Amino acid sequence: MPVKFKSGECIPLEMHKARMVQKLNLLPVEERVKVSQEAGNNTFLFKNRDVFLDMLSDSGVNAMSQAQYAAMLNADDSYAGSETFYRLEEAIREVFGTRFFLPAHQGRACENIIGQTFVKPGQTALMNYHFTTTKAHVMRNGGKVVEIIKKEGLQVTSDLPFKGDLDIPRLRDEIKTAGASNIAFLRIEAGTNLIGGQPVSMANIREAVKIAKEAGVLTVFDASLLSDNLYFIKIREKEFADKSLNDITKELGSLFDITYFSARKLGCARGGGIITNREDLYNEMIGLVPLFEGFLTYGGMSVREMEALAVGLRESLDFHVIEQTPIFVDAFARELIASDVPVVTPAGGLGCHVNAMEFCDHLKQEEFRAGALAIAAYIASGVRGMERGTLSEERNSDGSERFAEMELLRLAVPKRVFSLSHIKYASDRLAWLYEKRRLIGGLKFTFEPKILRFFFGRLEPVSDWPRKLAEEFRKDFGDSL
Ligand code: F0G
Repeated sequence: MPVKFKSGECIPLEMHKARMVQKLNLLPVEERVKVSQEAGNNTFLFKNRDVFLDMLSDSGVNAMSQAQYAAMLNADDSYAGSETFYRLEEAIREVFGTRFFLPAHQGRACENIIGQTFVKPGQTALMNYHFTTTKAHVMRNGGKVVEIIKKEGLQVTSDLPFKGDLDIPRLRDEIKTAGASNIAFLRIEAGTNLIGGQPVSMANIREAVKIAKEAGVLTVFDASLLSDNLYFIKIREKEFADKSLNDITKELGSLFDITYFSARKLGCARGGGIITNREDLYNEMIGLVPLFEGFLTYGGMSVREMEALAVGLRESLDFHVIEQTPIFVDAFARELIASDVPVVTPAGGLGCHVNAMEFCDHLKQEEFRAGALAIAAYIASGVRGMERGTLSEERNSDGSERFAEMELLRLAVPKRVFSLSHIKYASDRLAWLYEKRRLIGGLKFTFEPKILRFFFGRLEPVSDWPRKLAEEFRKDFGDSL
């Protein structure tokens, strides 16, 4: 809950207390240079033991509540027909108001099932914006992705309260030009991940879904980042100021033909699920669950996680639970802006997004500005972030580099994990790095996988800039870690 101090400063007060903690380790700067080298200058390849604040992702690392842990002990283990499944199914019905639920082991597993069932070769999947795994699944099934985000969505700084909104006239045009039969589906992603965790408004969703339905296009909702999006609908769309979070979620559940989610994000557990009101769609997908995931009553999830998820989903209808990430992201962004560090605005959900396009404007885009910034930030702070830019793109079919529209360093703020002093520390070190940004050099691949190269790719610095940056750190901070 944001509260005002008597100085006028506004701080994101936690509406929970920590009763279990994990010890952290902050390595000296020289070792941080070594760790980066050994991990191929790719933060996905770091060992967590070498990381101080793990801001790589919020996926599967959100803090669970005591009620979630307690529920885990109540799990019913059974290959088929476990009570746990029926409890989770009931929770989903209560939260989304939908009839059918297919469990899956995580979000991309849902995308596999939806992709295999509904994407035919040559078809287009329309989206407000892609997510890496979503796009890979569409392409794997012979389809292509067309993004129809409003132009402000791709502008780093903007006043638009819902930067994840679709460009409605373009949606109409795309459907008209391609023809409904050549469109696999329209997918709307809540809390649009790759453009900085930006929300989509209910007004925009209603309009887009109406157009798609009238044209006979299937509608799919990616609700992985729904919690943050719900928060913004509630505080930024007047109509919903007095509506319950459950009413808003139920309306979303009723609008789309299919909703899916990563339960590593939504519901603060680990797993995933596909939900629908349409029995015909449920029956089309059902066969793939036992083939790829597991039997229909667990779908690759542990029953303990399913119990935690049932509780976590209900808890995500509590405003004080879902506001934690957005108000911390806002505080993070405000700290950075105060030091002139360029960030995505308005601050969204998920994490704070630093604009590497500007931070590292002395580097060429093919030198991976955001990837280099991720490594420089780790050297400067021990904080691990994630590159969300050109490295995260796939090459064009002719082998040329596909430059991302945005070069971002994402510093994820997992739910209820970090304290304000963590945020202030990370901001301080980034502010220092911003002053020294000309010391940051580029990266180049030494090993480049064909698919989702950002996960396993290895890179090297184009010069010995990491060592020089560490020397500068020592000069300025002396013995301080
Ligand atoms: N959709 C969105 C919007 C996501 O953010 C993610 C995962 C997925 C689908 C896939 O779900 O990981 O459970 O298979 N995002 C993570 C991230 C990986 O770090 O942002 P998953």
